[in-house]
Amino acid sequence: MYIQFDNLIRAASAARKQAYAPYSGFAVGAAVQCRSGAAFVGSNVENISYGLTICAERIAIASAVAAGEREFVAIAVVADTSEPIVPCGACRQFLAEFAPELIIVSATVRGGQKIENLSHLLPDPKRGILENVQTH
Ligand code: THU
Repeated sequence: MYIQFDNLIRAASAARKQAYAPYSGFAVGAAVQCRSGAAFVGSNVENISYGLTICAERIAIASAVAAGEREFVAIAVVADTSEPIVPCGACRQFLAEFAPELIIVSATVRGGQKIENLSHLLPDPKRGILENVQTH
């Protein structure tokens, strides 16, 4: 499958402009490419109770899942940093729920880019967790 990373990065950049980040001032945009061909975006949404903040990546995935998507190919993440950022630990686990081998396309607003695989950032995401719990 040919993946248009440029389009995905553009979508993530546009979503970044919708970030609600009054506490950190750090705006992040994300866009997830579904196997269906559809893409869904997210931006970080902060809260006065800081711990309730939701990262852009999780918003994008949740939005896609709410629209019926389950299979993801890549996610672009855009921030205004000197080096491209990668998803936080919580987001890695959240992404791995659906796509342990997701392609992570990290980009800066200035055009920096890095591509890596989620399995490198979070190997063995389900080991030891809920081993005896039935999945439906
Ligand atoms: N943030 C994201 O949305 N995604 C990342 O990959 C890194 C961190 C957000 C959370 C918080 O709103 C702000 O960036 C600072 O950590």
